[in-house]
Amino acid sequence: MKRLVIGRGSVFADLLIIGEAPGAQEDLEGKPYVGKSGKLLNELLRKAGIDYEEDVYFCNVIKCRPSKNRKPTTREINIHKPWLMQQIKLVDPKFIILTGSTAMRAILEVKDPISNLRGQWINKDGREIMVIFHPSYLLRFPSKEINKPYDLTFKDLENVSGKLYAL
Ligand code: URA
Repeated sequence: MKRLVIGRGSVFADLLIIGEAPGAQEDLEGKPYVGKSGKLLNELLRKAGIDYEEDVYFCNVIKCRPSKNRKPTTREINIHKPWLMQQIKLVDPKFIILTGSTAMRAILEVKDPISNLRGQWINKDGREIMVIFHPSYLLRFPSKEINKPYDLTFKDLENVSGKLYAL
């Protein structure tokens, strides 16, 4: 199936999480982040004290599944970006998490390696933005040792949780 995958969660949320593109499970269910990566992301959010049912809206840069799960091209990103920008305007979140390099490049328009920017707060157009590792990267490097990607991402999400619930 090839369907549009727009979003899931609360449209009134103060936190928007942006992924890359739907995978097979997302295509099947019509919702972002419901496959393996999404389950891991939910687990991390829960551990960091973020109520992802009530306080988060999830979407992707690309609104339909690229064939064979390949990385979206720059042309595809540019085609889908106006829809993403409209979505950001409608949800109007105070905080945005960019998961992985595609979301980082689409929104921040930088080409830095993700490790240069992750974990820092970046203010853009009045919103506080944080880049984190993509959960699929954590699935590939699952070690939970201190300062490994899983642990760093957990700490990044704790940082987000602190700001979100201090409102
Ligand atoms: N599922 C999504 O919806 N987005 C991703 O980036 C990865 C998996």
